[in-house]
Parts: sequence; C-alpha cells; structure tokens
Amino acid sequence: MSKRIAVYPGSFDPIHNGHLDIIERCRPLFDEVVVAVLRNETKQPLFTVEERMESIREMVGPDCRVESFSGLLVDFMDRVGARAVIRGLRAVSDFEYEFQMALMNRRLNPRVETVFLMPKEDYTYLSSRLVKEVFALGGNITGLVPEPVIARLRDRLGPSVVPPQGTK
Ligand code: PNS
Repeated sequence: MSKRIAVYPGSFDPIHNGHLDIIERCRPLFDEVVVAVLRNETKQPLFTVEERMESIREMVGPDCRVESFSGLLVDFMDRVGARAVIRGLRAVSDFEYEFQMALMNRRLNPRVETVFLMPKEDYTYLSSRLVKEVFALGGNITGLVPEPVIARLRDRLGPSVVPPQGTK
C-alpha cells in the first residue's frame, strides 16, 4: 500500500504554537507529514525561508520532513507524492479564504483533498503577524511561540521593549 503523505503548507514567518499544535494533531493521521514553507518573492518576510525551515526543524525533530516550495502547491504535492493538504482553521473568519483555496486546489488537481484541523482553543486567535507586532511593541509572547523563536525575534528586532508612554 502506498504511504499516506500530507503536506502542511504555509508562510511560517515565524512558526508559532498554533502551527506546532496542528502538526502534532496531524502526525498520527498520516504516515508522513511534510511541512512546506512557501518561497514567496512578492512578500517581505521577517525571516528568510532557510531561517524559517531551521526554526521548524528545531521544533518538530528529525522524523518530520521540512521542505520549501515555490509555484503551485498542487505541483509540489505531486513531487512529494502527497494527496492531503493540511490547513488549520482557527475561526469562521478563516473559512472563506480556506474554502476558496481548497476548491481551487481541487480544481487544479482533483486527487488533492484539504483536511482542516482545529488548533487548541488557546491558540485560535494566534497568527504570525500578531506575534511579530506584539513582540515589536514590547508585549509578552511567552507561551505563544517556542523559546527559540523568541530568541530569533530578539536577534532580528532587538529586545522587546515597552514603548514610552505618551507625555504631555
Ligand atoms: O500561511 P499562509 O500564508 O496562509 O499559507 C498560504 C499558502 C502557502 C498555503 C498558499 O499561499 C499557497 O498554497 N501558495 C502556493 C501557490 C498556490 O498554489 N496558489 C494557489 C492556491 S489556491
């Protein structure tokens, strides 16, 4: 029987605990999970693709594959022999975008199925964008991203500092 391979694609700029929760949930469901970082030349990420892959590898350990891809996700899936796309659904607001992507991917390759997993409730409001913003403005992100990611944020953005209060 062929291996059941799933791809968990995303930007992961940076990876946070909601992503890690989804990875842990899908691992027992498939023979192999490939975490796939999109190489997107049009976006200005905080971390390079290599840095993001390194962070992910550090967290998921050696028995989870971490790759990067550019171009269509369905083409990457063909290359790695995967049929399932894993996506996290945090809230109803995610639904429309995810629904469009799932149906477009199905149109591009009818063999591809998208599997939605709900992260732990504690992470339903979490996004990489908010993590970066809160850190940059001096907010506490402990418990939302792994410690090594906090260290990388500190290296890239400097220590998280509380902005000065407004003065008259
Ligand atoms: O973490 P993100 O940014 O929500 O992930 C989006 C991602 C990488 C899953 C999506 O942009 C993607 O699959 N891009 C690859 C290009 C592609 O296949 N586009 C058509 C998908 S409908």
